[in-house]
Amino acid sequence: MIRFDAVTKRYPDGTEAVDRLSLEIPDRSITVLVGPSGCGKTTTLRMINRMIEPSSGTILLDGRDIQQQPVNALRRSMGYVIQNAGLFQHRTIVDNIATVPRLLGWDRQRSRTRAMELMERVGLDPSMAKRYPYQLSGGQQQRVGVARALAADPPVLLMDEPFSAVDPVVRKGLQEELLRIQAELGKTIVFVTHDIDEAIRIGDMIAVLRTGGRLAQFAPPDQLLAAPADAFVEDFLGADRGIRRLSFFTSAGLEINPEPVVAADSTADQVTARATPGIPYVMVTDTEGRPLGWADPVERAAGDETLVPYGRPFAPGRDSLRAALDSAVLSPTGWAVAVDKEGRVMGVASQETIADAIRRAHAEHEQGGHKQSADAAAHEDEQSAGVTG
Ligand SMILES: Nc1ncnc2c1ncn2[C@@H]1O[C@H](COP(=O)(O)OP(=O)(O)OP(=O)(O)O)[C@@H](O)[C@H]1O
Ligand SMILES: [Mg+2]
Repeated sequence: MIRFDAVTKRYPDGTEAVDRLSLEIPDRSITVLVGPSGCGKTTTLRMINRMIEPSSGTILLDGRDIQQQPVNALRRSMGYVIQNAGLFQHRTIVDNIATVPRLLGWDRQRSRTRAMELMERVGLDPSMAKRYPYQLSGGQQQRVGVARALAADPPVLLMDEPFSAVDPVVRKGLQEELLRIQAELGKTIVFVTHDIDEAIRIGDMIAVLRTGGRLAQFAPPDQLLAAPADAFVEDFLGADRGIRRLSFFTSAGLEINPEPVVAADSTADQVTARATPGIPYVMVTDTEGRPLGWADPVERAAGDETLVPYGRPFAPGRDSLRAALDSAVLSPTGWAVAVDKEGRVMGVASQETIADAIRRAHAEHEQGGHKQSADAAAHEDEQSAGVTG
């Protein structure tokens, strides 16, 4: 665990970048530092590996003051990833990744084997090993940066806006990759971003900093969205926080109605048998059970083949209540289509059913019942630490 104890950083020109920061960064999970530009995120991160020394206060790593530890050993126990990857331009990809193992005195062969292993781990094709950084896309370079930081298997990863320079699609891919790697390796990751959505997506814990380097709130994303500590945090979270919070609620318990579903080759009698009181539609599927569209059961039975689009289905249990609600909102009938792993229709759910499930989820969470959700399942070692600051 990394612990900040009343840490202040005042630069020589008098700028107070970090002000009496106290923070407990839990082991083997992702803690995100988020806040507006200039609020002291980079300063805070760099104090952990002593690239910047605090003016006062202490930082403890596993209970030991980092000031008392040799700086080289400290840095080797911490991988460091920055925006634009910060790769050595005159070295090949494989040599970039092998940098720290080589510094640690590993022989060439072992360092390269390790580098190749890591390329695979971060989703880079081995054929890129001999290329130079300029021969890679921004997203690929960023993966190299992550691989390089992981090369000597350090317990701690410090990441300073690692994915900020790439487009939103590539960025989402990198975030998913990081979560996948984290599920396998269980590092203690401190991740800096100014993007609150990124923080919510990847963070187990989020520290919101305000200008002047003061901690505004420290909480898991679900709690942050549910109960921002003050107007600054609420403002920083932006609009839709109620809707966004639904991504932490599972759709597992949602009632799915399997009745109003018919295959495209159904007879008029079969369609009529599937018409359900109170539901003016039937969901028509192909012969494999995949959704095709909505139909009026009376008109369909009379031979009309018109289909109304169904939007985007959701997978109960795997998707969140946010996805279920989105599915219902996108569907012109107001009904969400539930599908299994193979994309076959399991049934439908009304907006009212989803609204009930949302109310139940809120009630459960308020009672402190911390249910693991579809999205939160990717976040291992969920912390139940409370709100401070
Ligand atoms: N070497 C320095 N000397 C003086 N002031 C500095 C120095 N480095 C940073 N600062 C100031 O300290 C404050 C915090 O800077 P820091 O780089 O930690 O912010 P940040 O939160 O990482 O911002 P950004 O999101 O823009 O990267 C800013 O006001 C910055 O101008
Ligand atoms: Mg910064």
